[in-house]
Amino acid sequence: MLERINQIINEIESFEITDSKSLEDFRLEFLSRNGKIQSMFGEMANVPKDEKASVGKAMNRAKIAAQEKFDKEKQHQERSSSKEFGALDDITIPVEPTYSGSFHPLTLALDEIKQIFLRLGFNITDGPELEDDFHNFTALNFPPDHPARDMQDTFFVKKTDNPDEDDLVLRTHTSPVQIRLMKEQKPPIRSIMPGRVFRNEAVTAKSYFQFNQVEGLYVDKRVTMGELIETLVMFARLMYGSNVKYRVRPSFFPFTEPSIEMDVWWGDEKNGQWLEILGAGMVDPNVFQAVDVDPETYTGFAFGMGVDRIAMLRYEIDDIRLLYENDIRFLNQFKS
Ligand code: DAH
Repeated sequence: MLERINQIINEIESFEITDSKSLEDFRLEFLSRNGKIQSMFGEMANVPKDEKASVGKAMNRAKIAAQEKFDKEKQHQERSSSKEFGALDDITIPVEPTYSGSFHPLTLALDEIKQIFLRLGFNITDGPELEDDFHNFTALNFPPDHPARDMQDTFFVKKTDNPDEDDLVLRTHTSPVQIRLMKEQKPPIRSIMPGRVFRNEAVTAKSYFQFNQVEGLYVDKRVTMGELIETLVMFARLMYGSNVKYRVRPSFFPFTEPSIEMDVWWGDEKNGQWLEILGAGMVDPNVFQAVDVDPETYTGFAFGMGVDRIAMLRYEIDDIRLLYENDIRFLNQFKS
């Protein structure tokens, strides 16, 4: 009997299990109700009494060997078919892709602008998106009922006839943050003010009802137009490369005098065009007066630029709506 048991143990050990079919064959041969282990135990009755102990032990060894081998192989097969461990067992199995987030192109463009102005000694100031008429227009030298206000199609949140109250608007530009900053802080001031602005414009590939600007303000004694242009040229070179082609033109804004605009050449020598990248100028003395800064003591320059335009040029985006629709297929392209 002992010999038969040892033979069964040998068979168990040498049985090759390679797939689910051979695993099932193994189970049928050894572990099933009609398998070799059961029938072996069935013969226990015929074993002479004095051998029962040693034969019983041997039978148990055979049973344990079969069960352990079965459990081990079964686990192994389950692992290699499960997704979690599959790649470890077969390196040719394609892995499920993992998705990580990405920075929005506006964030990337804004980060670059911030880095440049931080290098030039500017700090960063924040302001509210819901503004009153005073900060958005009046203090910036837009006369009441003057057509200058039509320059920017405004979303009015509250209109009032009460002279003690003020109209509320979604800010049409970041310039009102200049006003808040100068009311809070005495010069010298050297700050950029990034933020979202709103205009009641038709939605097209080129215009949207919201976009992003970065305002700049430098106020101190004897700040000059030369420094303004030098700063803007420095910005253009750092942003668009040191051989950027640019031009500065006279312009008009109610809050600066004189006012200018800066264009950069976009494209190559033959195929290209001038693109306006910002407006700027010397802070109008009327603005200083509105915030109690003495225009006899201080001068300053200010500028404002669009972030969307910069992001669209930089990443060759031809439709501004893409920046706000947040289609994941679009956003996923901006891995940094
Ligand atoms: N606020 C202007 C706009 O939205 C941009 C601008 C122009 C800002 C000249 C300035 C400036 O600070 O000096 O079109």
